[in-house]
This record gives sequence, C-alpha cells and structure tokens, in this order.
Amino acid sequence: MQQHPFTFSVSVPEETLSVFDKHIVRRLSAMQGQYLDTQAFKTMLSQDPVLYEVYEINRPELAGELMNGITIVHPGKIGEEYFMTKGHFHNLLATAEVYYCLKGDGMMVMETPEGEWAVEELHPASVLYVPPRWAHRSVNTNPHDDLLMFFVYPANAGHDYGTIEQHGFHQLVLERNGHPQIVENPRWRQQER
Ligand code: PA5
Ligand code: NI
Repeated sequence: MQQHPFTFSVSVPEETLSVFDKHIVRRLSAMQGQYLDTQAFKTMLSQDPVLYEVYEINRPELAGELMNGITIVHPGKIGEEYFMTKGHFHNLLATAEVYYCLKGDGMMVMETPEGEWAVEELHPASVLYVPPRWAHRSVNTNPHDDLLMFFVYPANAGHDYGTIEQHGFHQLVLERNGHPQIVENPRWRQQER
C-alpha cells in the first residue's frame, strides 16, 4: 500500500485510470428486482449486458483514508428505464461522497432513510456533493455515450446494498417521448423506523 503521495491520471476519451487496484464489472443479473419492467428484465437477462464498471484505488478501510476511482455507466435501457448502478446507503450513514462528472449525461437519484428524495443532473464538469445519510444511484440518461464520473468517499464508509434491494429507490428515471423523466416508483417501500 502506497504511503507516499502519488499522482495518477484519468483519461476521459479512453475512460481509464492510469493506476487502479480493482475493476468491478456489474451485469444485469446483479440487479434482480430493481427494474420496473420485469418482462423486459427477463428478456434482457439472456444477453446479461454489462450495465456499469468501476475502477478503484484501494485504501485501508480506516477513518481518515479516502477511496477513489471512476464509475462508467454504459448507455442502454431495460424497458423504459435507463442503465443504472445498484445504488446504496453507506454502512456508516454519516459519511458523504463527491462525484465529478467527466463525460456523458446522467442523473443521481438520492434519498434518506426517512424517505426524503432528490435527483440531480450530471453533465461534464458537474460536481455533485452527496451529503451524509443520502443513498445514491447513478443513471445514464444519454442513449449514445457512457457516463463517466470520478468519485471520492471516506474509506471506512462501507456499502449497504440490502436496504435498496428490499425497498427500492423512491424515484425512477425513465425515457418517455425521447426524454428522461423522473417518476415515482410504485414498488418503493418506506423503511420501518
Ligand atoms: O461508493 C460509491 O458510491 C461508488 O464508488 C459506487 O460504488 C459505484 O458508482 C458503483 O455503484 P454501486 O456501488 O451502487 O454498485
Ligand atoms: Ni457511495
């Protein structure tokens, strides 16, 4: 593990990091129950497309350290719903995250455990600050190009995927008449408190 300051670069056209430790490839089959159109989900499962990829620089999961890397969400839809990340709360709820959009267009769908929600657009040079307690999911709304973002978050944050898998996000982003539209998720369930 590098304990000396280091520099690396993100190549935007090639969508690569010059230094990384981990490459995660997430396919549709990892998104069971997340897409509204279950028939389209089933049909697309035979191809099991890659929805997104993450290149990460590993740091010790300790307070004070920062995880960072890039997320690439590919273009595409399942029914009317765009390719997107699984989305998660941080295990340590009181941890924030910063995203810097380098390429493409998208939306970050967010919500708190209390059910407050927000959706922010992402375009090249947009910086998004996700405050502590907000679950986050990246959605690629550009049908022709990848969405490329750089992210940084506290290395001890951890990922809680289970809550979103069970409750879903309050809002979905669908393509209607050729444009992204934010609609209520009919299957969203409020968390018990
Ligand atoms: O921690 C983050 O928010 C990101 O690094 C995500 O892990 C990344 O964008 C992939 O999304 P997810 O972890 O929801 O699959
Ligand atoms: Ni996160």
